[in-house]
Amino acid sequence: MTKMKAVLCRAYGKPEVLQVTELDKPIPKEDELLVKIHATAVTASDCVIRGLNPPGGHKFPMKQLMKFGMRLFMGFSKPRNPILGLVFSGRIEATNKNIEILKEGDEVFGFTGISRGTYAEYKCVSAKEISSGEVFLKPKNASHADAAAVVYGGTLALHFMKNAAIKKGQKVLIYGASGAIGTAAIQIAKHHGAIVTAVCSERNFDLMASLGSTLMIDYTNKDARNELEEYDFILDAVGKNKTSDLKDACKNSLSPNGNYVSVDDGFLKIEPDYLPKLKASFEAGQLRAIIDRTYPLEDIVNAHEYVEKGHKKGNVVIHV
Ligand SMILES: NC(=O)c1ccc[n+]([C@@H]2O[C@H](COP(=O)([O-])OP(=O)(O)OC[C@H]3O[C@@H](n4cnc5c(N)ncnc54)[C@H](OP(=O)(O)O)[C@@H]3O)[C@@H](O)[C@H]2O)c1
Repeated sequence: MTKMKAVLCRAYGKPEVLQVTELDKPIPKEDELLVKIHATAVTASDCVIRGLNPPGGHKFPMKQLMKFGMRLFMGFSKPRNPILGLVFSGRIEATNKNIEILKEGDEVFGFTGISRGTYAEYKCVSAKEISSGEVFLKPKNASHADAAAVVYGGTLALHFMKNAAIKKGQKVLIYGASGAIGTAAIQIAKHHGAIVTAVCSERNFDLMASLGSTLMIDYTNKDARNELEEYDFILDAVGKNKTSDLKDACKNSLSPNGNYVSVDDGFLKIEPDYLPKLKASFEAGQLRAIIDRTYPLEDIVNAHEYVEKGHKKGNVVIHV
């Protein structure tokens, strides 16, 4: 049997629970195709799953209930699918007759649902996953690293901004603008003609301006609330575990018909048009991938340690 490199999550816990190993290369079933993965990314969600660390900013006893729910859903003592990883970019190595949309040799990118399994050299993707929008042709001008980076934050930003109906000239504030979702959200808002204010720490101001943000506010500055204006749309792009006095103040800075959305409100449901939209935006130069660091698959523990610190700029990519 041919082997592949993969990372197993042997238990819930610190990054050291991840182990690089060799597994049998998967064989696609009749309704599946086989993707050779070239790049994946370590996302905040991967750390949530590996560390059994629920998002949402909950405290005792809700946090414990959430952990219990996660165990029921994902596996009691370790993830049922022990290969983590939600995003990928790669090339189709084999297809079956039941899948006509994509063909052998196509370069694709994807955001898996609950199946995960992208910390590996190969992954099988089903016809259902393809038709529900989890896999699509990658942007032609994107490297595999770019495509793996842009798909997580881009998809989540599209999802949480889809009802915002941002119009030209409106004021939009992105809280936690320097993360994976935030860096995509700034670019999407800017493309719709919004005047964007980015909330991040000062060391990220230049990056925010380069993505199209007009104003930057440092959430670590005690007087930062004085810099707030009135906003038509506010996105909390880092979730409720990451907060500050400024975040509370932001909630009172909405215009009368303004809209406040947190990425921890509700769950992502990937729509079939998200990946095609990301591809088109990337190819048109409206969206670029922000890559903070890259690691080889063998360094997955270090990559998780870095992402878990909670201060990455944009994305951390893994070359497989
Ligand atoms: N609802 C869903 O279905 C769903 C799915 C996936 C993810 N999510 C949510 O999305 C989050 C991941 O977002 P992400 O990957 O874009 O974030 P991320 O990359 O983990 O965020 C990193 C950024 O957070 C900033 N940051 C850290 N503490 C902050 C604070 N107190 N206030 C403001 N910014 C702060 C850091 O900037 P500095 O270095 O400048 O501090 C850094 O640039 C998850 O944690 C989860 O809450 C939701």
